[in-house]
Amino acid sequence: MSSTQRSRASFVLLLLSVCALHVTGAPCSSIGAETLEISGDELPDTPKVSPSTKWKPLTNVLLCEVSSLRDQQFDEEFAEPKDNMSNYKHHRLGLPQIIEHDCSSSNFSKESCLLRIARGLQLHAVYLQFVEQEYSKPATVADIKFRTKALAGHVMEMMKNSKHVQELNSDARDKLLSALPTASSWERKITVHVLLRDYHKFLTQTFRALRHIELRDRKRTALKLNN
Ligand SMILES: *[C@@H]1O[C@H](CO)[C@@H](O)[C@H](O)[C@H]1NC(C)=O
Ligand SMILES: *[C@@H]1O[C@H](CO)[C@@H](O)[C@H](O)[C@H]1NC(C)=O
Repeated sequence: MSSTQRSRASFVLLLLSVCALHVTGAPCSSIGAETLEISGDELPDTPKVSPSTKWKPLTNVLLCEVSSLRDQQFDEEFAEPKDNMSNYKHHRLGLPQIIEHDCSSSNFSKESCLLRIARGLQLHAVYLQFVEQEYSKPATVADIKFRTKALAGHVMEMMKNSKHVQELNSDARDKLLSALPTASSWERKITVHVLLRDYHKFLTQTFRALRHIELRDRKRTALKLNN
């Protein structure tokens, strides 16, 4: 396949997934997703979008998709009202979160905050493989995985040195997946729930951190212009 064909194919795929979303009634807009595969050389007249403006629509779509999948899985597999999710909050898997220290405004380091986000996205992308295998919505999960990788790519573009974000090899990925609790169908079900719930939390923290970075950069640029 030529790159034009490939990008056309993935564009069609994205459109299909947008339609699928409408069918299930999920209100996620995919403004971010639609422009994802269009690179500068295929559409020469498109103005180049800076990485810092690309993260926002993409993170918004991901937040929406992950929360609807989380709610749907809870509804279908647990058959309990949504409020009952909090009954399972003590179930934890030690998944990556953006803990305060280098992403908080008091002790902020842009590069290490971005590194934490990029590494976290990488790990969550691996865990999504488990969700894809275990839960009956593989197409939706594949979309989420695709966008997760795109977001990680944008975050790495924002970094000075993204070499610190190493690609996980298949041994490392297998190790992460085999550490998940899977002994019974109950365990697999709760594992899927916790993976989706905590990925949503991670994305919320990511949104806040990236917005903080954007505002901070803008302030600095304004200061420079004024001087
Ligand atoms: C929802 O949680 C409450 C306790 O918080 C429990 O009594 C109730 O049975 C749960 N609902 C279902 C359908 O399991
Ligand atoms: C502040 O950030 C540095 C590096 O980013 C980290 O090593 C340190 O522990 C942080 N301090 C606090 C108080 O969180």
